[in-house]
Amino acid sequence: MFNELFQEKNVYRNLVGGRWIESKTGKLIDIYSPIDGSLVGRVPAMSKEEVNYVIKNANEAQKDWMNYPINKKAEILYRAAAILDERAEEMGKILTYETAKDRKSAVGEINRTADFIRFTADAAKSLEGDVLPGDSFPGTKRNKLSFVRRVPLGVVLAISPFNYPINLSASKIAPALMAGNSVVLKPPTQGSISSLFLAQVFKAAGVPDGVLNTVTGRGSEIGDYIVTHPEIHFINFTGSTDVGAHISEITSMKPLLLELGGKDAAIVLEDSDLELAADNIVSGAFSYSGQRCTAVKRILVVDQVADKLVELLTERIKKLKVGDPREEGTVIVPLINEKAADFIMELVEDALQKGAKRVYGEKREGNLIEPMLFDNVTLDMRIAWEEPFGPVLPVIRVNNIDEAIEIANKSEYGLQSSVFTKDIDKAFYIADRLEVGTVQINNKTERGPDHFPFLGVKSSGMGTQGIKYSIEAMSRPKAVVLNFNKDY
Ligand code: NAP
Ligand code: G3H
Repeated sequence: MFNELFQEKNVYRNLVGGRWIESKTGKLIDIYSPIDGSLVGRVPAMSKEEVNYVIKNANEAQKDWMNYPINKKAEILYRAAAILDERAEEMGKILTYETAKDRKSAVGEINRTADFIRFTADAAKSLEGDVLPGDSFPGTKRNKLSFVRRVPLGVVLAISPFNYPINLSASKIAPALMAGNSVVLKPPTQGSISSLFLAQVFKAAGVPDGVLNTVTGRGSEIGDYIVTHPEIHFINFTGSTDVGAHISEITSMKPLLLELGGKDAAIVLEDSDLELAADNIVSGAFSYSGQRCTAVKRILVVDQVADKLVELLTERIKKLKVGDPREEGTVIVPLINEKAADFIMELVEDALQKGAKRVYGEKREGNLIEPMLFDNVTLDMRIAWEEPFGPVLPVIRVNNIDEAIEIANKSEYGLQSSVFTKDIDKAFYIADRLEVGTVQINNKTERGPDHFPFLGVKSSGMGTQGIKYSIEAMSRPKAVVLNFNKDY
């Protein structure tokens, strides 16, 4: 099923207008595995002319797709989900090779994506419109009825990050398609190959020609051109705050959905179940080596239980398996590239120089960093505020709840926070005051289940994703008003 993707061994093509086409310019990007530096494959670096051709195809195809019956669109999505389930092991291997995601999480990402796609098809089938009587409004007679339904926006540009190239591509594509849009997918360069496999799954499931298209190429080279293209009608972006803010600046009035970086805090109170807190914090902070927007990225713990919490965390961190993501049970995997590891080590050096206590972990080899825990982190340290996107966890000790809230809210980010306490009143007191999209009570910070609204405030994003919310974001209300000559 995946043979069509290849121009020749290891050289991939893009899906455009229903055909897999090779690079016209011959310019290719080599994708190396973060595991061992071997060549995973080569993808086209598309030129502006090629991008124009892709967008033209997407616009033409959308005209028919918007009128395609919802139940038929849903059938296509059900088929795509079934293929993903069948191919989960095979696609999981590619994902692991390309992004160093551990095998279990990689296969999990694909199964989760299949569930997401099925749920999206169902959710779109049960979308309802409104019929509004005019005479509810003062001064209006019973001679007006407004029929309101949701219509597509046109061509959606989906831009996804390296850490979930399949899931965060599909979670844009599926709702966009169900809302009647066509899609241009610009996958992360490191993650392009996995994303091209995903595109083929949708094609094989029966997505009509031109309704889903791909553009590979470096965001730094082709990104500005594609996001400002006048025939792109909506941008659904997940990635770093820097790139998201840049896109927002240069796209003027184009509607956007931005899911960006985070600095999620786990707030641990004196009355919490510390074992539960430690279990959640360690899996929340270190899975996929902390390369998740929702990873726990700082702990704010009340001083009287801080020693005990640090002890429980250390016991657990010591047991995390470090190394090759292809081996069963590995949690700490090589980071996506050495540059990411360099940045993390800068934050570590800064913290150590300013007096942070290294509780666990010091080794770094190339792009592999062992899990690290730092205590006595203070607010003058960069690690207290910046997003490492790696396996490094700072502990900040606080005196009381209000200090924890104050520090949590001083962050430029506002994705999620956790609160660990057995006191529901305190939990709600804190939850009400935290400036984030979601507060988790007695659980790690995390996105799923995927029909929950998922959003960041401040520098963490704009707009809301989550199945129903994504469909709404990628459609708009359109009203047709019936005017009767007489009151009825
Ligand atoms: P990134 O560097 O911002 O890249 C994200 C995507 O944007 C990639 O496809 C990238 O392409 C593309 N891009 C780069 N420059 C662009 C431009 N000028 N115009 C258009 N697209 C451009 O982020 P990342 O390193 O892949 O992912 C890690 C970051 O994403 C972290 O900050 C993390 O917190 C955030 N994230 C947030 C969420 C969330 O839901 N809130 C989820 C996952 C990740 P190239 O790969 O070709 O550069
Ligand atoms: O990296 C960002 C993802 O949206 C987080 O999803 O909480 O399921 O890992 P997750």
